Amino acid sequence: MVVTSALNWPGAVGPIYASGMTPKYVDVSVLDGCVDDRHAAEGFEDGAVAALVPHLFGNFTRLPQMRSAAHRRGLPIIDDCAQAMGGILRYGCDPDFYSAAMTSSGNGSKHLGAGELGVLCTKNADLIEHVDLVSLSSSSRDHERVFSPMTYGYNYRPNVFSAAIALSRLPDLASQIEDRVSNSTYLWRSLARLPGLRPLFDESETANSFCVLPLRLVPSEIDLPEAACIRDRIVTLLKAEGVPMDVWLRKPVWEYMAFDRPSLDPAAFPNTDLLLSTICHVKEVAPPNDHRVMRLFAEAFEKIWEDMPALKDWLVRPS
Ligand SMILES: Cc1ncc(COP(=O)(O)O)c(C=O)c1O
Repeated sequence: MVVTSALNWPGAVGPIYASGMTPKYVDVSVLDGCVDDRHAAEGFEDGAVAALVPHLFGNFTRLPQMRSAAHRRGLPIIDDCAQAMGGILRYGCDPDFYSAAMTSSGNGSKHLGAGELGVLCTKNADLIEHVDLVSLSSSSRDHERVFSPMTYGYNYRPNVFSAAIALSRLPDLASQIEDRVSNSTYLWRSLARLPGLRPLFDESETANSFCVLPLRLVPSEIDLPEAACIRDRIVTLLKAEGVPMDVWLRKPVWEYMAFDRPSLDPAAFPNTDLLLSTICHVKEVAPPNDHRVMRLFAEAFEKIWEDMPALKDWLVRPS
């Protein structure tokens, strides 16, 4: 069994099955949408042999209880930083940080924005060899091409154009993340006074890299029913005002699996359940957008919030 989050990207969970293992889903924290530290640590007590930890929306979660439970047993943790590359920059080289590998994505919506490619950072030579075995038929190591005729032949190589873009963007990654942090902090400070809006990130975590600005709606604070359709309608209104809003997943991850879909009770994952009906996020917080653009986004939120009494009938109408 491999501990992983109930709020998760299906493409990250599939490889657990592909490795002949079974996910052990645990609930998330409402602070940042990432796996709940205590539940994840308990997963190791219940017999899990590894953890695959998604760091969502740009949030990096340190998980001290889970890491020490894994460390005590010598079990691996893989940090999925596809949405949170800042975690790799901050903790990847920290010898005291317990992680077997940190992975990331070159997908266009992420920090590298390079097309399609994957990144695996590890110091574990056996793991690199294993990844070569299951993915590549030939690869570049120490400036030489190495052929691996024993591979499974999946050929998960990045294409050369994506790889070239990713490499060219690496030197500016830290400064890109600084701008994302600055834009997101500025925007959140402007939005914080609006009732019914909460941050979905730990404001004290310095490794957050804001793939997006994640938010949570609490409709009851603005006298509206707690329902996913209310969140969706507010997002529609904000989009109509030009704010690049989106809603991520709407179901627990196992419901997206094409095979071996377990029947788990969502009530056993109350935070995941709550977030699935209340989360939304603002995209386009990356440079070249700046505080001036963030101000325009904030003004659109303010406009919708001011008009909320007049919009109420539309927001609560039956579907
Ligand atoms: C949390 C998470 N993990 C893994 C992935 C997979 O990355 P890729 O699109 O490069 O396969 C994604 C992609 O969106 C993701 O959001």
